[in-house]
Amino acid sequence: MRTLVTILLLTLVCFLSYSSAYPVAKGMLNRKVCCLKSTQMQVPKGKIADVAMTPSDCEQQAIVVTTVCDKKLCIDHNWIWAKNLLKEFEKSTANNSPPSAPFNVTRCTEKV
Ligand SMILES: *[C@@H]1O[C@H](CO)[C@@H](O)[C@H](O)[C@H]1NC(C)=O
Repeated sequence: MRTLVTILLLTLVCFLSYSSAYPVAKGMLNRKVCCLKSTQMQVPKGKIADVAMTPSDCEQQAIVVTTVCDKKLCIDHNWIWAKNLLKEFEKSTANNSPPSAPFNVTRCTEKV
C-alpha cells in the first residue's frame, strides 16, 4: 500500500514537472499568461505564429511562443536562440504587420 502511494506521488511529481513548461493563465478574464518554468526547445519558425515576453508582473520571465496550432510554450528567455527568435519576430512584425516568412508559413497539422 505504501509503495503504491509512493509510486502515485512520483508519477504526479513527474507529470507536474513535465507539463510545467506550458504557460498558466493568470486570471480568468484576460489572456495573460505566466510561466512557472521554461524550457530550451527549438520550434521550427514556420510553425510559430507569435513570440512574446511574459508580462512584467509574472514572477518568472520567459518567452512565450505560440504555434500555428495555438499551443503556447515557455522558452528560456536567457537562451541565445530564444533571444534571437524574439528579435527576429519583432522585426518581422514591425508596424503591426502580420508575421512574415519564415514565420507562420506551416499550417497546423500534427497539433504542435
Ligand atoms: C498565420 O497565417 C494564417 C494563414 O495564412 C493566417 O490566417 C493567420 O492569421 C496568421 N497568423 C498570424 C498571427 O498572423
